[in-house]
Amino acid sequence: MLTSLRLRDFRCFEALACEVAPGLNFFIGPNAQGKTSLLEAICVGLRLASPRSTLLGPLVRHDQPAFAVRLQHGRTQLDFRYGAAEKSIALDGVQQGNANDYLQVGRLVYFGNTDLELVRGRGEIRRRYLDFLGAQMEPLYRTHLRAYERALRSRNRLLKQYPLPRREIAAWDGPLLESGAMLTALRASLVQELAPAAARAQMAIGLGRDATLDLAYLPGAGPDFAAVLAASAEQERRTGVTSVGPHRDDVSLLLDGRAAAEFASEGQQRTLALALKLAQAEMLRVAHGQPILLLDDIFGELDPERRNALFAALPAAAQKFLTTTHLDWLEGPPGGPVWTVHEGRLSTA
Ligand SMILES: Nc1ncnc2c1ncn2[C@@H]1O[C@H](COP(=O)(O)OP(=O)(O)OP(=O)(O)O)[C@@H](O)[C@H]1O
Ligand SMILES: [Mg+2]
Repeated sequence: MLTSLRLRDFRCFEALACEVAPGLNFFIGPNAQGKTSLLEAICVGLRLASPRSTLLGPLVRHDQPAFAVRLQHGRTQLDFRYGAAEKSIALDGVQQGNANDYLQVGRLVYFGNTDLELVRGRGEIRRRYLDFLGAQMEPLYRTHLRAYERALRSRNRLLKQYPLPRREIAAWDGPLLESGAMLTALRASLVQELAPAAARAQMAIGLGRDATLDLAYLPGAGPDFAAVLAASAEQERRTGVTSVGPHRDDVSLLLDGRAAAEFASEGQQRTLALALKLAQAEMLRVAHGQPILLLDDIFGELDPERRNALFAALPAAAQKFLTTTHLDWLEGPPGGPVWTVHEGRLSTA
């Protein structure tokens, strides 16, 4: 669990220090005050990745060289500094040459108000959902993902050259196929485990009245990646990109056997997206212990019944950080500290 959070030059925060509680922590404030940035900082500090930006550059406060995030997680102090000219990570003050040990410290699930995109959006969003979980479940996942992405980028760069550098392209086929096959296997088993957990969560928040949820992995390579890659050579030559492989993976989401993006109601889609996140939390809990939950502005949008059902479905033992513009929707006392976020500063309410 986190006990403290310190930021410097992160988004709108020049400097911030905050001791947090083991259970619920509320951050409230009007729009554009820094609520999402706070949760983003926790995510970046633990996972070295932002839930809303693939690049970390935009997280550096305007006109500053670098940001720093320091988290106290149990007995471990995590430090991450990032800027155009520097990137460093440290555990208890000891600089780390790679992120392997650092990423073993803390795990989390991020609930955001853009989660609806998991249902409606492009496949890329569902791949990122799997990757965020996969990297936390198993260090090998991140290793193969990075190796695959590197091979894919290199190959795609070469495929745009004329004349086609066939030998150089072929040299990347090995790493692409090897990491690609591993990634396919890892994602297939993730989805297999996620499916029942998501269906249970869907029932819990939908109060048992919602349709049955089914998840299925749709591999972008098929069982024989080498064969489909070889068969796509002509298409690659025409389009200049690698056209098959795990970078085309997707996950189908079915409610009572029908595509949720097309047939589910707004409320059902929202419930489904929450169920997908609760399923992540459940998988992490079973494998590594209770993850931290970051909940960005999601309760205000649910009707009171679903809101209470979601609250009840959140693991009671998990440390939770919630942002919201107001607490009017809360029935009863908040059950944890409430901070007000105003223009990049925190005060206790
Ligand atoms: N790199 C940056 N440097 C300085 N300010 C930034 C940077 N990136 C974003 N901001 C600003 O930080 C402020 C807080 O953004 P944030 O997304 O955290 O707000 P929020 O409180 O979550 O608002 P909302 O309720 O609208 O979601 C915004 O005014 C945003 O423009
Ligand atoms: Mg926000």
